[in-house]
Amino acid sequence: MNKKFLDLGLQPLANEYPTYYSKKQIKYRLKIYFNTKTKLVSISKRIPSKKMFTNKYPYRSSMSQTMKNSFKELSNEIKKRFKPKLMLEIGSNDGALISNFNTKQALGVEPCSNLAKITKKKGYITYDNYWDLNLAKKIKKDFKNVDLIYSANTLTHINDLNNVFRSIDNLLSKNGILIIEDPSLLECIKKNSYDQFYNEHIYLFSTLSLKNIINKFDLEIFDIKNIKTHGGSLRYYIKRKGNKKFRISKNLIVQENKEKKYGLAKFSTYLKFNKNVVKSKTKLLDLLNKIKKKNKKIIGYGATAKATTVLNFCNIDHKIINYFTDITPDKINRYMPGKKIKIYKYNKNILKKVDFVFLGAWNFKDEICKKEKDFIKRGGKFITHIPLPNII
Ligand code: TMP
Repeated sequence: MNKKFLDLGLQPLANEYPTYYSKKQIKYRLKIYFNTKTKLVSISKRIPSKKMFTNKYPYRSSMSQTMKNSFKELSNEIKKRFKPKLMLEIGSNDGALISNFNTKQALGVEPCSNLAKITKKKGYITYDNYWDLNLAKKIKKDFKNVDLIYSANTLTHINDLNNVFRSIDNLLSKNGILIIEDPSLLECIKKNSYDQFYNEHIYLFSTLSLKNIINKFDLEIFDIKNIKTHGGSLRYYIKRKGNKKFRISKNLIVQENKEKKYGLAKFSTYLKFNKNVVKSKTKLLDLLNKIKKKNKKIIGYGATAKATTVLNFCNIDHKIINYFTDITPDKINRYMPGKKIKIYKYNKNILKKVDFVFLGAWNFKDEICKKEKDFIKRGGKFITHIPLPNII
């Protein structure tokens, strides 16, 4: 049974950055549910993929050194531990991961054709289609099967999970390995990072819920890693149940126990989370309003989808956060979705006359603080709302 535990109000598509501000930008009610049987957390309103993942999709995985390092490390591990002859990435974006493999070793699947173009140009075969059974069958025809499938921050964006895993099952070789990486529900609840919810994130996986989903396809998790990307993610290593080559690691038991102990299987945990989210909103607005009363200038750093959730939920506009800065080409000179807050191209001097910087990309806090030493040295302060609104 699906039970509602959070309502984040009206939210625009988080990656639809308009060139001009309009009150008419379409918004959808963002309500979050917990399934008491499957333990799966999901949003209620499902927007068709074709509306969200278009040929103008702005998000680029390779915009942060932290992500690039993480992908490099993983690709070294894949080569050493699993030695795939051929691997496939579902949601290959601009190639941040596959570019660590040679063009004969890795295939991409990326429905946003503006991004697929980038990896095609580098010589990688990239299917610019949505991941489904038809595509899996097509790739099977072209390559027979693949030894490893990897997908980061993508499968949770696809409504029909049965189709997702049926398609994986169809294409993966007998002893093939599936690696999935997504924000961790446990970290989200612990850090009170309600901004992990937006229209693209249909699901937020936990080990408990993912186990249930893949069980139907005779797949099982055999190892798991907590990683720092996206504010705390889980990397699940999955195999067919019949594959005896890999033993079930104790990391899996440890993670499951942690999730159970924290209460991820109980609805009451999510009600508590709701209370913390409401508190976070009040505290963030108090903090920002206090700063504004002192006539200080606040800007946003990292025009993230997460920041869009925060701005629209807390109703923060340009009178509070004057503008955002970002390095992503397709976000520059556009507006934060749903708000009249412009995004300017990042340059070294952009923080010169700024007192406070709201971290839209709080998940890259370390990377950003390292880059902005001069701002910190002259007394500039960062504001984060994770885990609680605070000046750091
Ligand atoms: P994400 O948190 O969804 O990955 O998005 C991070 C955003 O922050 C992305 O738009 C790139 C931007 N960004 C900067 O503008 N400067 C930086 O130094 C970093 C690390 C990210």
